[in-house]
Amino acid sequence: MLENNLKTFPENLLYPIKSYERIPVIIYEDSKDGSKQIARRIAEIIQDKQSRKQAAVLGLATGSSPLKVYSELISLHRNEDLSFKNVYTFNLDEYYPLEDDHPESYHYFMNEYLFRHIDIDPDNTYIPKGNIPLTDVKSHCLEYEEKIKSLGGLDFQLLGIGRTGHIGFNEPGSDERTMTRLVRIDNITRRDAASDFDGLVNVPYEAITVGVKTIMSAREIIIMAWGQHKADIVREAVENPVGANVPATYLQEHPNVSFVMDRAAAGRLTRAQTPWKAGVCQWDDDLSCKAVVWLSQKLGKAILKLTDEDYNEHGLSELLLNAQNAYQLNIKMFNRLQHTITGWPGGKPNTDDSNRPERALPAQKRVIIFSPHPDDDVISMGGTFLRLVEQGHEVHVAYQTSGNNAVHNSDVLRYIEFYEEFANHTNSNVASQTEIENLKLALIDAKGNIKLKKIKALIRRGEARDAARFCGLDDGGIHFMDMPFYEKGGIKNKILTEEDIQLTMNLLKAIKPHQVFAAGDLADPHGTHRVCLNAIFEAFRRLNHEDWMKDCWLWLYRGAWEDFKIDEINMAIPLSPNELLKKRSAIFKHQSQKDRPPFPGEDTREFWQRSEERNRNTAKLYRELGFAEYEAIEAFKRWKFK
Ligand code: F6R
Repeated sequence: MLENNLKTFPENLLYPIKSYERIPVIIYEDSKDGSKQIARRIAEIIQDKQSRKQAAVLGLATGSSPLKVYSELISLHRNEDLSFKNVYTFNLDEYYPLEDDHPESYHYFMNEYLFRHIDIDPDNTYIPKGNIPLTDVKSHCLEYEEKIKSLGGLDFQLLGIGRTGHIGFNEPGSDERTMTRLVRIDNITRRDAASDFDGLVNVPYEAITVGVKTIMSAREIIIMAWGQHKADIVREAVENPVGANVPATYLQEHPNVSFVMDRAAAGRLTRAQTPWKAGVCQWDDDLSCKAVVWLSQKLGKAILKLTDEDYNEHGLSELLLNAQNAYQLNIKMFNRLQHTITGWPGGKPNTDDSNRPERALPAQKRVIIFSPHPDDDVISMGGTFLRLVEQGHEVHVAYQTSGNNAVHNSDVLRYIEFYEEFANHTNSNVASQTEIENLKLALIDAKGNIKLKKIKALIRRGEARDAARFCGLDDGGIHFMDMPFYEKGGIKNKILTEEDIQLTMNLLKAIKPHQVFAAGDLADPHGTHRVCLNAIFEAFRRLNHEDWMKDCWLWLYRGAWEDFKIDEINMAIPLSPNELLKKRSAIFKHQSQKDRPPFPGEDTREFWQRSEERNRNTAKLYRELGFAEYEAIEAFKRWKFK
């Protein structure tokens, strides 16, 4: 069986008393740890069957969630002789209609990420067929069910969870008696897949999926969720009553199911959000602040107006006991939050800094802003970026990846045609006409074309340079890292390499910054931000012994996807209406990302709108807690290594 590797979660919940969870939840530090354990459990099932000379029948999933499980199974096969000779697999689903060899088909996926690396007999691998005529679909679905039954049913089912709460392609509304069938894909799910298909229009509307009943018939089920972007749906699946509106809730009725997740995906469970409701807590200032902000927001009352009764009536009497009375507690937490607000992101020179988020000295700091994609710097902290430059700090911006996945082909065509006409006009054709024609052809079947990717990267470089110059940098402060993990890994499989870490270390060593800003925005749909952050964490760890590192503070920002909660913020930079407009102009420099960038996620607003709304909302939340009213606020959390 799987075991929690986090002894308690969250750490400040000392004695759990009441659980809100209706499915056994197992939490790991990160997806790597969790995936390893899942792979081990699958190996156990296979080997147990082997020892009894029986076949193991596995239900498998696709998507980003199982990727690490599959790579772990491959390494168990390579390094620990795990054989798949007795294994039959049944995949959950396939898009319809879609050819097997389409790079987004689940046939292609399974072969690419598992089957071709192990010793499974290809005849034992079943995936619903996306390339059969509509008239054959019904009988194909029946045969699929029959085949599973004839092998004795599923010993094990692996599942991911979609943001709609779907399992397989059983979207909201699916009945618990459903079997393998053709279904319509939910719009949110289609939008989530849009980037993989190079635009929403290319995403199939339908899929063949095994049913809820088929899934529930498995003898053991593990459902996985990794990352903050899954946290909301995880809470619904785990804590809401069973209902068709979140099909994953059906799993609550299964006798042998585990919901395996990482810390980030567990972040919205009641025990994580409001641990005092789940048991006895270890109260420190951080948890007290979280509780006070929660209470203030729940009651719609400013912090300084909260009374003893408010605390008592909302399950926070224990907190009050520790703090003597509401008045004392309110003042303490009010001051704590007040001290996060500053107009001096690089520290205010010549002032007492004991209650300020940043040090006064050195008055002029060396700063690196790491930006995972070429526009995250201005989207997430454009106002602070402008301030740092204006306040005389030596600011560098480091674009970690080229961002070439997120440029439309039509933009590339515009540049190629410009180039062509300019070359004709000046009689200075550097690229041959055939080369240009080939590029145009490649636009039709764009995936994987290196030259096209290069052009896309150059388009984004130009935009990033323009925006950084607009923020006041000269070219010496602009660094393009083109981190190899992004160039090599493709959209799905992003794994940090030694080269990425070295590049990051080299830049840090060359600049010896006092302040580093990095994207701690872990909700980005393709994991790029996460890998970029891991590169920085690892570089910091390795450089820890260097003298200048003692003065180097790491600040995390978030932005386009989701902001920090108020109690997590250590530095809040208010922006005036004019500064917000200036920030918008900086974001506008990223023309290829305007209107409908290829990767908008499920949010249909443009990046500048999301960013402004977030910044305004943070200001509003501060206001509601009883602080001064600002137009907008950019928020940062200081990262301290343990
Ligand atoms: C995949 C499948 C889906 C995914 C779900 C989560 O075969 O049927 O239910 O498991 O959409 O997708 P990811 O893991 O990409 O977040």
